[in-house]
Amino acid sequence: MPFRSPLPHPRALATAGILAIAAGLSGGCDFHTCQKVSDDTLSELPPTLSGSGLYADIAAGTLSDDVIPFTPRFTLWADGAEKQRWLALPSGGTIDASNVDSWRFPEGTRAWKEFDVDGVRVETRMIQKIGPEDADWAAVAYRWDGEDATAVRDGAVDANGTTHYIPTAEECVACHGGRASFILGFSAVQLAGAEGVNVDSLVADGRLSPAPGPISAPAADVAALGYLHANCSHCHNPERALGVLGARCYDPDVALDWTLPATSLTAVTDSPALKTGSDQLGNAQWSEVLERISKRNSSNTNPTMPPLGTDVVDDDGVALLTAWIDTLNLSSGNDGESWQR
Ligand code: HEC
Ligand code: HEC
Repeated sequence: MPFRSPLPHPRALATAGILAIAAGLSGGCDFHTCQKVSDDTLSELPPTLSGSGLYADIAAGTLSDDVIPFTPRFTLWADGAEKQRWLALPSGGTIDASNVDSWRFPEGTRAWKEFDVDGVRVETRMIQKIGPEDADWAAVAYRWDGEDATAVRDGAVDANGTTHYIPTAEECVACHGGRASFILGFSAVQLAGAEGVNVDSLVADGRLSPAPGPISAPAADVAALGYLHANCSHCHNPERALGVLGARCYDPDVALDWTLPATSLTAVTDSPALKTGSDQLGNAQWSEVLERISKRNSSNTNPTMPPLGTDVVDDDGVALLTAWIDTLNLSSGNDGESWQR
């Protein structure tokens, strides 16, 4: 059963700004409170999904011709929801891939992700590049209501008769604002050798400029490191701008980096995620990581991880990381100081 706190869910309260009360009760720093996303930004997105360009015929479920379906190799755990993802580039648009691990998308790029929970189509999320600057993105969820879906900027609890929580527009940014681009799963490391659309097919279609060099097949640790990349690195990375949405909005105050760069796929020992895991964490810190991912709460002190977007423990993910940690040669002398910022 999903975790339910006795208080209204802090994530649902975050936009209302009453979180100070919850923080006062539980003590600790309130990192749940995010600065409001402006109405101007959100007005760049259509009020209903039918106006977004995803479908040629929404009632028939026919997608538009220019929409590219994709599946990242390493996925974000979403409490068992089924997810489908699509991306559309503006006509003739190419992705600037000069930094292999930080693709820049042209203005007008749109991406969608649909969530199906227990057979119910609940929401489709949308992200759009609304201007030329890195920060120029808008993101919101659309809740399905019959044949169309309507933007819900304040999210929804127990949406459409399921236990599914739809995040607020602020919570989208808490995760998607953590890197130079809002797009997290359409990247070199996620699409190298992926089924369906992948780096090679994008190069063949002339969508990547310049075409990246070969990104080779995975090595042994890649499943665990890919898991950490997909589930943790949008928050835990050094390029995350402090105060993306308010001073501490879901911004970790610690120097853990769970990134798996595409360039590390063949030599994962060079990846920040493996360095964090094996060099920086001793046994005690690893037990803390496992402890945090094996539970769910929404407290301000020692919150479980990830602190957003999930109410149900990912048992397979915990098993994967537990087995992988057993293979690491952890330094016994680590006092835990070296990885505190
Ligand atoms: C807990 C962090 C988190 C939250 C909250 C979140 N996302 Fe995402 N989202 C991700 C990650 C990580 C991926 C890529 C991995 C995957 O799809 O499994 C992703 C993928 C997507 C995609 C596909 C394009 C891409 O970036 O790969 C869209 C569209 C999207 N999210 C929209 C939204 C919107 C809109 C919201 C708010 C309503 C939202 N997301 C909230 C983490 C998050
Ligand atoms: C939505 C952003 C976000 C995501 C995703 C996220 N974290 Fe965190 N993490 C935080 C924040 C914020 C804190 C600091 C909380 C506090 O102030 O105590 C934190 C703290 C931690 C800490 C405690 C460090 C310390 O000693 O204080 C660990 C360990 C950790 N995260 C691991 C993970 C792992 C592993 C994942 C993926 C399974 C993950 N996190 C995903 C935001 C995130």
